[in-house]
Amino acid sequence: MTQPALTQFWHPICQSTDVDEKPRRFNLLDDDIVAFRDENGIAAFRDLCIHRGAALSLGWVREGRLVCPYHGWQYDRTGACVKIPSRPADAPIPAAAKATVYHAREKYGLVWVAMTEPAADIPLFPGDIYDLPEWKSFLSYRETWKTSASRAVENFMDFSHFPYVHEGLLGTEETAEVAPYTVEKREDGLHYWLEQEEPSDLYGAGGVQMVRYEYTLVVPFTIHLKKIELGSGKETIITQFTSPKTPKSTEVFVVIVRNHSHDEPDSAFGDFTNVIMEQDRPVVESQRPEELPDSLREELHIKVPDAASLLYRQRLAALGKVEVFGPYGA
Ligand code: FES
Ligand code: FE
Repeated sequence: MTQPALTQFWHPICQSTDVDEKPRRFNLLDDDIVAFRDENGIAAFRDLCIHRGAALSLGWVREGRLVCPYHGWQYDRTGACVKIPSRPADAPIPAAAKATVYHAREKYGLVWVAMTEPAADIPLFPGDIYDLPEWKSFLSYRETWKTSASRAVENFMDFSHFPYVHEGLLGTEETAEVAPYTVEKREDGLHYWLEQEEPSDLYGAGGVQMVRYEYTLVVPFTIHLKKIELGSGKETIITQFTSPKTPKSTEVFVVIVRNHSHDEPDSAFGDFTNVIMEQDRPVVESQRPEELPDSLREELHIKVPDAASLLYRQRLAALGKVEVFGPYGA
């Protein structure tokens, strides 16, 4: 069976608020994208004019058409060139005069793009709770990391670094030992969980408490962490949507959704997570190679605690990552 390549998945490229009627350039899978918005909604094209290769993101939108800044060719939303101003109005337009149009949608306050026919939908939150009134959401963190998307995801999946990178917040050296755990293989990813004492006063709640961590990975680059405070039963889902801009540049979006404390400011929950993310970042950016090695033999895996990341690497390897990233993939 042919596995879908990375182009066949939805990836976030920016926040919805970043896109308006002025075309703007974004990066995805080592290519340039131009996105804009008009009364028909959002559109995303490859940022390249077929005529002489100019960046369409330097152009403008007129009557729903994207106008190339160089010689004024006009492309409609299907990508067809519908006007070549240097030619008589009744002259035929070559059928090959087309821009490459990508699938574009908005969800969770983000703009999502699939560069080829999507093989899967935009990832749902566990239990599909995002739009339910008892859950409140916000974008907590957005930064570009100098690493690959897969390294950034694997970091978020990994809890055995807590006593070192997040000492005193998510773990302590005395409790570094990891108990064996089971990873459930799902059609679209992986699921596993653990319980531990969190040494910090989580979200200002005060004192050490038992927390259940439920991880749900959706291939290729979405990872949800549902934190359940076992005392209060409060649930908070911290989700990393990971955008593969280039093989060594990744935009990390963290959305937090909670079923409690709606009256408290979002920062009461986001600030803690943002500290954690910034603790992770220099370590992840230090990893070499920036991309996960293609061969599992190239790094050393220990079943406990690395079972989840090992399975993640196997799932990614099946996706044809190398093919998508060309010479950078090796
Ligand atoms: Fe776009 Fe000429 S390069 S119209
Ligand atoms: Fe971390």
